Amino acid sequence: MNILVTGGTGYIGSHTCVELLNSNYNVIVIDNLSNSKIDVVDKIKKITNKDFKFYEGDCCNKEFLNKVFTENQIDAVIHFAGFKAVGESVLKPLKYYRNNLDSTISLLEVMNSFNVKKLVFSSSATVYGKPESLPIKENFPLSTTNPYGSTKLMIEDILRDLHKSDNDWSIAILRYFNPIGAHKSGLIGENPNDIPNNLMPYIVKVATGQLDELSIFGNDYDTVDGTGVRDYIHVVDLAKGHIKAIEKVLKENTIDSYNLGTGNGYSVLELVKTFIKVNNVDVKYKITKRRPGDIDACYADPSYAKEKLNWEASLTIDEMCRDAYNYVKKNK
Ligand code: NAD
Ligand code: UFG
Repeated sequence: MNILVTGGTGYIGSHTCVELLNSNYNVIVIDNLSNSKIDVVDKIKKITNKDFKFYEGDCCNKEFLNKVFTENQIDAVIHFAGFKAVGESVLKPLKYYRNNLDSTISLLEVMNSFNVKKLVFSSSATVYGKPESLPIKENFPLSTTNPYGSTKLMIEDILRDLHKSDNDWSIAILRYFNPIGAHKSGLIGENPNDIPNNLMPYIVKVATGQLDELSIFGNDYDTVDGTGVRDYIHVVDLAKGHIKAIEKVLKENTIDSYNLGTGNGYSVLELVKTFIKVNNVDVKYKITKRRPGDIDACYADPSYAKEKLNWEASLTIDEMCRDAYNYVKKNK
């Protein structure tokens, strides 16, 4: 089977390519390298000892997509390509609506014209807005609090409408919780050039001396120790969820949404203390005021993915902390 992976040199895409190649799928990667580097291609090949085709290009460009679909007999697509920074999406909403919506609609049109109707889409737990109760189930009400989240919800709606109009489409919408960690080889992972927005990349930069101190955004939330609680999931477990989702869309013509999380919530302080313990390294931190838009706690009920996809996360929070640090130490 030939799987097209858009955004395949990015953080989650690269780990998913490794798992696809390890499961003997043929992989074709598209990425415009707007948020990743070309050397990831060789690193994926090195980890797996397998070859694959890489196309540098933009998913908003239908001419380019037509060329990729003409040159390859594609069976299914995993669509990661998109922008993902919540804060930037508030400042530059048009950039987010243009890229995330245009890339998806262009891709869907080209898939349709080549009669390729099997898709796995990267959505996010952000589509649950501020959940009224926990843990979060897939049938909870959907809403968003920022333009990035709105692009995810709009795309989910587009996909549901598309399936309604033509139920030959087979679509898995994966709602990721908080992916962290890296491949254990230390060859691929996440290490943003700018000051990180997300917690784990920030912790790692403090641990490696690239930043002075972590600011913990608020300790007066309604949680175990007052700091925000999230469902952190190892990116390799997340990548494996995509293999199960691909198997599902190749087998059945349905549309369904699945939470990919562990079901466990960890507070910011718990994560920081685990990181310090596991890596035997200091991470300086201070408590500051809340970050606007943050919620107290967010964690998944992952039982639907277990039931329908036969997938569940298995890597521990210790492994997430170890692998995140290992990657950045090797790639400072
Ligand atoms: P990433 O930025 O590392 O990867 C996305 C990749 O897509 C990058 O390599 C980028 O260069 C590429 N890209 C962006 N726009 C493109 C375009 N128009 N054409 C071709 N390539 C393009 O991000 P990630 O963390 O790997 O996230 C992958 C997907 O998962 C995104 O859609 C993101 O919104 C979603 N997601 C991520 C998280 C998270 O915390 N990382 C959580 C929920 C959902
Ligand atoms: N936090 C800090 N200090 C920091 C960064 C974060 O205390 O420097 C705290 C936040 O307040 C929050 C927790 O750490 O309590 C996690 O924050 P992240 O920014 O790492 O993650 P979020 O849960 O806010 O959001 C992330 C992605 C979203 C995605 C969501 C669910 O950024 O795009 O996970 O998948 F929608």
